[in-house]
Amino acid sequence: MNKKTVSDIRFAGKRVIMRVDFNVPLKSGVIQDDVRMRAALPTINYVLEQKPKYLVLMSHLGDPKKDTQKAKEKAEKDGKPFDEAKFIEGKHKMKPIVEHLSQLLNRPVKLAPAAIGPETKAMVDALSNSEILMLENTRFHKQETSKDPAEREQMAKELASYGDVYVNDAFGTAHRAHASTETIAHYLPAVAGFLMEKELAYLGKAVENPAKPYVAIIGGAKISGKIDVIQNLMNKVDALLIGGGMMFTFYKAQGLEIGKSLLEQDKIELAKKILDEAKEKKVRLLLPVDCVISDKFDNAAAVKTVKVNAIPADWMGMDIGPETIKLFSDEIVKAKTVVWNGPMGVFEMSNFSKGTTAVAQALVTATKSGAITVVGGGDSASAIAQAGLDKAVSHVSTGGGASLEFLEGKVLPGVAALNDK
Ligand code: 3PG
Repeated sequence: MNKKTVSDIRFAGKRVIMRVDFNVPLKSGVIQDDVRMRAALPTINYVLEQKPKYLVLMSHLGDPKKDTQKAKEKAEKDGKPFDEAKFIEGKHKMKPIVEHLSQLLNRPVKLAPAAIGPETKAMVDALSNSEILMLENTRFHKQETSKDPAEREQMAKELASYGDVYVNDAFGTAHRAHASTETIAHYLPAVAGFLMEKELAYLGKAVENPAKPYVAIIGGAKISGKIDVIQNLMNKVDALLIGGGMMFTFYKAQGLEIGKSLLEQDKIELAKKILDEAKEKKVRLLLPVDCVISDKFDNAAAVKTVKVNAIPADWMGMDIGPETIKLFSDEIVKAKTVVWNGPMGVFEMSNFSKGTTAVAQALVTATKSGAITVVGGGDSASAIAQAGLDKAVSHVSTGGGASLEFLEGKVLPGVAALNDK
């Protein structure tokens, strides 16, 4: 990586401001999964060990405006009352995050009432002795995500005034050009944290000079979110394996009947184009040969396994079948670099999680044989954790959208803005 990191800076006596991605799933104020928080601890502890004047931490937590709008609409549709203040309290306020972080670090962490403003400024100015202060959700301020650069600059300058140095360890939000992730880096010495460095190192191996054979597995419900990844990886991989709900749109593009399986009608032409491009470029694009189908979208539904050209009209595809598992696993275990993004089926339902678990197991086997195996975040990260295999692969990314954009070959603004080595 050609960016400066925390290893290039001395933190003793400095005022440090650090962006982390503590956007963890919360249910009524209770943290459901703290992987992202734990992943930032090495950087936080490294800075604290050097006795900075203080450490100010900041993160977004959900998207208050969008989430509230959605929840309000749903409540209206269901004819239920909606308590906006309570909703925001349970989903967007940093209090539970601060309490949990304090436990993880085994030391007090203060909470500011807002990310910017006079009260917060006074609180920051009063810090000393390596105290830690977490700012309230950065997205409570519209300047954070504003499309107007002047608005972002105003917030970024205020945040920058809290520190002598800016650390960005928020890989998960590095694809967003926001005030706290990108703009602020223009006003202070700006370096990457260890998590950011590790993510870029592993994902970088999959994008630049990967050891061959290189196999990519792309799954998930929709082609729409994965087109650019498929097209970028197609130019680099030895084999591209496609599973998950999106496989059925590919089958439709080949003229097969897919019953009630998931279909993106408006993406059929695109699927045809991808298949033609793969042929032209002589890329081995492998689609499943069999699938597990059910008569309802339900774990308790009737289930059978069929060849992909034999899906009955009123049944739907839910997972890849055993022949496909063998086909895909054989490719994966022979590879020296493997990238996986997106589950193979409806893995949240136990009867349709076999394909996804089998892919996870094949990645583990490949890892044991010396391959670099990288799991893109989001659903595939949850799936491999659910299978208990997340520690047995080279790297599971903490980024969902960020890891996808990186694999698409895009420059991540939060990374680009950091100081070059
Ligand atoms: C994520 O969860 O992918 C990151 O925290 C970014 O969140 P966002 O998609 O709301 O920007």
